[in-house]
Amino acid sequence: MKINVLFSNLFLDELYFTGKTVVVIDVLRATTVITTALANGAREIIPVSTLDFAMKISGDAFRSQTLLCGERNTKMVEGFNLGNSPLEYRPEVVAGKSIIFYTTNGSKAIVKAKFSKNLFACSFNNLPAIARHMIQLNEDFEIICAGTNGLFNLEDAVCAGVLINQIKKLTENPELSDSANASLILSNSNTKNLFNFLCSTEHGRLLIENGFEDDILVCSKIGSTDVIPYYVSGTMKRL
Ligand code: MLT
Repeated sequence: MKINVLFSNLFLDELYFTGKTVVVIDVLRATTVITTALANGAREIIPVSTLDFAMKISGDAFRSQTLLCGERNTKMVEGFNLGNSPLEYRPEVVAGKSIIFYTTNGSKAIVKAKFSKNLFACSFNNLPAIARHMIQLNEDFEIICAGTNGLFNLEDAVCAGVLINQIKKLTENPELSDSANASLILSNSNTKNLFNFLCSTEHGRLLIENGFEDDILVCSKIGSTDVIPYYVSGTMKRL
């Protein structure tokens, strides 16, 4: 099993992902929210890469069964039903709903990888379940770190490293690219206290500044759910 980590997807064409198995990570907060929403009974998440498209498909959708959700600059977009805080995606709010989901980095990374053969969303919350599933699948795969504005961020790289570390414990010698090794090395020195670590990152500090510190606590919980979001025909559903 070969594992490669992409710290940025900005310069990659979407066709790069054709036929590949891919794990998308946006710890703060998109993949945490997707996992939470599906764990709390959402029917599906429809990731979109532009606000215009989010508005357009929400106009065509069944209002009572659809929620328009996500963020711009960490805050809920005017006219949306929910922002991008995992705490908003409670069972009584999301159960049975289709969620149109636009975020600055996470939803875009998923849409970019839409031609993948297999596409999963990983956060710290479902990381052990993803690790076990990747072992079962036993295929080469790429980890996309959604990053910040398409570029490197530390929390996604560290989460990739933690995932690789768990996989290494479960299978003999996966073959790691240099970027996969780099994320492993980064994760070794940053995982003693995940909450403190996430708070110290650039995006963590921005979230705290904007009043979302409680979200970071949710995002820092390793293995709080076994839900695996899986991309199929334009939507993310529970595997
Ligand atoms: C994103 O997709 O860029 C993030 O989830 C931003 C956020 O924290 O809301």
